[in-house]
Amino acid sequence: TPLSVRADTPSVAVSNEVRSSLDIDWDNLGFGYHKTDFMYVSKCGSDGKWDEGELQPFGALQLSPSAGILNYGQGIFEGMKAYRTEDDRILLFRPEENALRMISGADRLCMPTVPVNMFIQAVKQTVLSNERWIPPSGKGSLYIRPLLIGSGAVLGLAPAPEYTFVIFVAPVGNYFKEGLAPIHLKVENTYHRAAPGGTGGVKTVGNYASVLKTQLSAKKSGFSDVLYLDAVESKYLEEVSSCNIFLVKGKKIATPHLKGTILPGITRKSIIELAQTLGYEVEERAVCVDELRDADEVFCTGTAVVISPVGSIMLHEDRLEYANEGLGKVSKELYSALTSIQMGQSADIMKWTVEI
Ligand code: COI
Repeated sequence: TPLSVRADTPSVAVSNEVRSSLDIDWDNLGFGYHKTDFMYVSKCGSDGKWDEGELQPFGALQLSPSAGILNYGQGIFEGMKAYRTEDDRILLFRPEENALRMISGADRLCMPTVPVNMFIQAVKQTVLSNERWIPPSGKGSLYIRPLLIGSGAVLGLAPAPEYTFVIFVAPVGNYFKEGLAPIHLKVENTYHRAAPGGTGGVKTVGNYASVLKTQLSAKKSGFSDVLYLDAVESKYLEEVSSCNIFLVKGKKIATPHLKGTILPGITRKSIIELAQTLGYEVEERAVCVDELRDADEVFCTGTAVVISPVGSIMLHEDRLEYANEGLGKVSKELYSALTSIQMGQSADIMKWTVEI
């Protein structure tokens, strides 16, 4: 699908001067909302065809109060990052994986799929038009948020007659306020994130609304986030609200297998592949909550969190603590192997990065 760029889209040659003129503290980027310059918008009507798509000035979307997304949560999203390299190239990380995951989510929620090529071209255009917002090398990344929503009006429960594909971006640093320091989790004993046959395995907007209550109450008690157990037996690990989980024991690494209730993280997949090339034995299987008791290290993975070492986990009445406050050898090794590829600091032996 060809992309049209509005005539007023500037071609931005970004100098350090331009970047430093932005009202932004590059050394202290967290993971917060920042208005940037442009967003990409494309619409698909009941004929199932996407229009040409265009970059528009970042701003509010107009939606009917009857829109499918507002009433019945018909919406999915993706999370991606663009990094600026030391030699001023811009790298995306495995964008095709995000495109494919959005296709599977669209299918689950009865929405038209965005073709892989259209998705990737739209991401590239959005990043380029917001180039001045990409943090300097080593200071963070430009977080990319593709959204696919039912924007057409409905009243009875049915798929919306019109869909909107939007991409916006924001400069980000660390997701957890701890930065690279270990996070502290609490195993959730009451609520569940997803049930078998539900939508836990795709990135629906509703999956994230439903974890806010537990996340907030955990934060009030001083934890960084919540670790969910399976909804059937409350015995096996699922994931954290915003990321996947891994346990390390010697040269073995275990992570919950994908069975429809866990988000198939692209960082999760990449860490499994990287760990195998680094000589670890990786098991994707049912991981019993009690295995947390003898793990050497525990860490979380996600696009936003990258790799977050876990310092402690509250399991029922027990506080489990991990060696070196969680900043273990394996977490560190995997973090540096992954981020050096993402940031273009090491040879991309896995062929994961895509230069814009
Ligand atoms: C991501 O890691 O990109 C996500 O979409 C998780 C979100 C809660 C920030």
